[in-house]
Amino acid sequence: MPMDPSESEPTSIPHAGMATLTVERATLQDVPELAALNNLFAPDGLTLPRTEAFVAKHIDDYRLIRAADHSVLGCVALDEYSPSLVELVSLAVLPKAQHRGLGKQLIEAAAQLARVRGYPEVFSVSLADRLFLSMGFAQSSLEHYPEKVARYASISRSEVSLSRKYLFTRRLAS
Ligand SMILES: CC(C)(COP(=O)(O)OP(=O)(O)OC[C@H]1O[C@@H](n2cnc3c(N)ncnc32)[C@H](O)[C@@H]1OP(=O)(O)O)[C@@H](O)C(=O)NCCC(=O)NCCS
Repeated sequence: MPMDPSESEPTSIPHAGMATLTVERATLQDVPELAALNNLFAPDGLTLPRTEAFVAKHIDDYRLIRAADHSVLGCVALDEYSPSLVELVSLAVLPKAQHRGLGKQLIEAAAQLARVRGYPEVFSVSLADRLFLSMGFAQSSLEHYPEKVARYASISRSEVSLSRKYLFTRRLAS
């Protein structure tokens, strides 16, 4: 997906109880931390395992939030299926930084990026139902997304067969 100049603008979204944190583009220097943060939750099936090579190849699709010491507190990524379909993936916030609104900031940043890139819709597969429903997503079903089932069937049957996981979708204004 070609880069859009507006993608380079960081977004700052104030939220209660913390100094304003900024959602930023990721750089290749962030690759080890991004892979480690994503893979922290992979054993529980909450994220798909990612190698550092995968993250490096897709670095333009990642967004992150840093602590004051520049370490990564949270991340999210877009995974394109077609010019009209993209998935929000690798949403992860360090346990010590959870419940402070970072997850919501990252979801909003990913939705904005998908909108800037021209996708009419973004979807995600997650256990975090209240979180996605509170961010303008509506619950849908995997059966409406055969591309998702086909792509991940060979990687992680556990994700598509996890009965507690839901698929959420959000329409994006043009
Ligand atoms: C999901 C996750 C990113 C949320 O990050 P966060 O920074 O805590 O999110 P926010 O503070 O913006 O929002 C938290 C709210 O989201 C909702 N929420 C978070 N996790 C949830 C879950 N597993 N199930 C249902 N609702 C959830 C709750 O309403 C929560 O409110 P609370 O803080 O009052 O309990 C974080 O818990 C995480 O990294 N989890 C492990 C990885 C994961 O499940 N990723 C999602 C894959 S798509």
